[in-house]
Amino acid sequence: MAKRNAVFICQNCGAVYNRWKGKCEACGEWNSVVEETSDATPMAGPAATRLSRKGRVFPMEGLAGSSKEPPRTPAQIGELDRVTGGGFVKGSVILIGGDPGIGKSTLLMQASAALAKAGERVAYISGEEAVGQVRLRAERLGLADAPVELAAQTNVEDIVATLSQGRTPALAVIDSIQTMWTEAVDSAPGTVTQVRASAQALIRFAKTTGTAVILVGHVTKDGQIAGPRVVEHMVDAVISFEGDNAHHFRIMRAVKNRFGPTDEIGVFEMTGKGLAEVGNPSALFLEGRDVAAPGTAVFAGMEGTRPLLVEVQALVAPSSLGTPRRAVVGWDPARLSMVVAVLEAHAGLKLGMHDIYLNIAGGLKITEPAADLAAAAALVSSLSGAPLPADAVFFGEIGLSGAVRPVSQAPTRMKEAAKLGFSSAVTPVGRGERGDASGLDAREIPHIGDLVGQVAA
Ligand code: TYD
Ligand code: MG
Repeated sequence: MAKRNAVFICQNCGAVYNRWKGKCEACGEWNSVVEETSDATPMAGPAATRLSRKGRVFPMEGLAGSSKEPPRTPAQIGELDRVTGGGFVKGSVILIGGDPGIGKSTLLMQASAALAKAGERVAYISGEEAVGQVRLRAERLGLADAPVELAAQTNVEDIVATLSQGRTPALAVIDSIQTMWTEAVDSAPGTVTQVRASAQALIRFAKTTGTAVILVGHVTKDGQIAGPRVVEHMVDAVISFEGDNAHHFRIMRAVKNRFGPTDEIGVFEMTGKGLAEVGNPSALFLEGRDVAAPGTAVFAGMEGTRPLLVEVQALVAPSSLGTPRRAVVGWDPARLSMVVAVLEAHAGLKLGMHDIYLNIAGGLKITEPAADLAAAAALVSSLSGAPLPADAVFFGEIGLSGAVRPVSQAPTRMKEAAKLGFSSAVTPVGRGERGDASGLDAREIPHIGDLVGQVAA
């Protein structure tokens, strides 16, 4: 008989305490610490037999097939395959997180249907919706004829039993992990202990059968996959599905990926018939651009291997506050402060008494330092009231000395800009291949001070 221990677990971050606390010391969340009973040995069965077993080690170089790519099942949805690295790896577990209503269930139903139509066994387990509701959604998506196996179950033992009968499924979708519970632990469904134990059981199922398992996870208000961060450590890949309600497109990004890249993004558009792949994201992000307005610059960025053009918008206005406002959407506020400081120190701009707002159009989040130059150009343009040349793109990192530093993959960025009808680029000096094939007129600037000249000209 397993020993029962009362423990107190933060439902937000999974921190464990031996007594109740009003505020979690680990993540700072209030009222998130809840009493749970945990078995002293959560995996009593396997643990008991483990004692009598002997460990084995394997010589790494002798492992058959270890040098090969892992076997994958492509999802038949190009943008999803791009993010996973070419499809679902057999026996791997992927956690997909995103805000409610973002389209997780929709996308996974589309992927399930595509795989099932290709002849694979696919199971879609919904713990949130009844089978009828899931079917209704499939009907709306025009996928009601796909031979996907649907079940409305929340008990992990039942699910594993169902999936273990007959042909091994290629894919099992668990929507969502927070609704699952296992008999192995006493805690209520949705608690950290339950979610962790359920995930563990499903991961064991995936590893032993070779079924790729997708766990859907809810996201908390601060953007973390809810409650158990621990699940993120247990799975092979964590994918976040982002977007906001004001825009109809959605961006998928791998936060962690044991079998593929983490810098690729997948771009989708929510339509009346589910999520459609966006083949040319740059065109989408530049849609509705006001070329005559001061304060907007087009950044030629890279997301993984794919170039992406986005509009950087800045608004610089005299402040009526003692401490001027600085607000950023879609970019790192610390980088904005840095660019502003460099513009003041090395380009002679006076921004100290101005409110500054910076926005990446379309709800995209940019992490590349290469966006510095585009942000700086947008700021200079807004301050001076002069619009930037409508046919120019910008990229380059700005150093604290004011130097404009080279960034990677300049030719790819320029080629994408040329493809979308731009005719010039403001870039760092020495982009590598000088005579690049893009045909773009490259204006190389060595120093941030030269930008002001370029913009005013
Ligand atoms: P859903 O997949 O249920 O979101 P999640 O599982 O992430 O909570 O998506 C629900 C939203 O998607 C809902 O607001 C309606 C919208 N939607 C469409 O716009 N078109 C469609 O074809 C479908 C099925 C949903
Ligand atoms: Mg859902």
